[in-house]
Amino acid sequence: MDDILLMLPGPTTVDPRVLAAMSKAVVNHRGAKYGEILTETTELMSKVFQTPNKSYLLTGSGTAAMETAVANTVAPGEKMLNVVGGKFGERFMKIANTHGIETQELAVEWGTAVTPKQIAEALDENEDIKAITVVHNETSTGVAAPIEEIGKVMKNYDALYIVDTVSSLGGDYVDVEKFGIDVCVTGSQKCLAAPPGMAAITLSDDAWKAVDNVETNTFYLDLKAARKSGDKTPPETPYTPSVSLTYAMNEALKIVMEEGLENRVARHHKAAKASVAAVKALGLELFADEAVSSATVTAVKMPEGVTDAEFRGTTRDKYGVELAGGQDHLKGNVFRIGHMGCISYKELVQTFAAIGMTLKGLGAIEDAGAGVASITESYL
Ligand SMILES: Cc1ncc(COP(=O)(O)O)c(C=O)c1O
Repeated sequence: MDDILLMLPGPTTVDPRVLAAMSKAVVNHRGAKYGEILTETTELMSKVFQTPNKSYLLTGSGTAAMETAVANTVAPGEKMLNVVGGKFGERFMKIANTHGIETQELAVEWGTAVTPKQIAEALDENEDIKAITVVHNETSTGVAAPIEEIGKVMKNYDALYIVDTVSSLGGDYVDVEKFGIDVCVTGSQKCLAAPPGMAAITLSDDAWKAVDNVETNTFYLDLKAARKSGDKTPPETPYTPSVSLTYAMNEALKIVMEEGLENRVARHHKAAKASVAAVKALGLELFADEAVSSATVTAVKMPEGVTDAEFRGTTRDKYGVELAGGQDHLKGNVFRIGHMGCISYKELVQTFAAIGMTLKGLGAIEDAGAGVASITESYL
């Protein structure tokens, strides 16, 4: 079967309009035509981030944007607080360590969310912390952090507020300006439903002040270089960008704006709620604390006696639905359903049919159709 339905927390299904946009002729990246498309795309990006500040496109995946955020705003030897409740929170900390930043971990049990109080306490104890990193949607556990509430607390501190919205922007509620986020990063291949390979970043005035005071030890991801090139007429990127992915991002962001951010977020929340109900209807257990469960990915405990290889192998090879496995110590213990991007009841019906048939075939459940029945009820 070659038309596999991607129900992954990225990459997600790419709209044919976006694929068509990518096939346009490649132009000179130092010319007026590219400048025009870059301007339009970064302006759209700022609208989706909900910020009056400029956004920058980076040719690279979400991790490139995470590294850009960390390495340009905090100097080696300075302190950073990293909230770690999953793989991507941990990645922020590893990046900071790689750049010689003194990291302090705020460890959160995987499957639960950090509280604003925990952050305030950590900052009260360590006045010299220059920045904190928070992952909005911890894709490895299916947990959403309360970034709006954390933003309110962060107003009492000088530390920069760095937020990873790689798997939430365009799918869950993110308002960079309102939440007081200083540095926000995202990726192309998740809720924005563009192909993998592009990332974006936006910075507040305070964050730019930090950038100006930090001698960064990255070359390719140097934000001062990005700003200098972006300020040219026509605007450019410092090094050759993926022109084709810029077209793709442009079209994908137009689709986001056509749907409307509010509608898009509501659609993702509906899919998440329906997925959680369907998981329960199948008699399966959620991994994440339901009160903080993600709008874009649902992590489910693997039923007793079922291996990851037979479960996900069957949903993919027999029923054409690709699900994600667990990461790190969750490998084999959870599977994850990505419901981000172009997701409606149709994809969820197919997904829960595949999960139900697979688990019944493996002898783990009795009623193969309970998940599908639940989805149809959720969408009536
Ligand atoms: C929350 C989060 N942050 C960062 C990343 C890293 O993005 P990429 O794999 O595009 O480098 C991911 C990817 O899954 C993610 O889910």
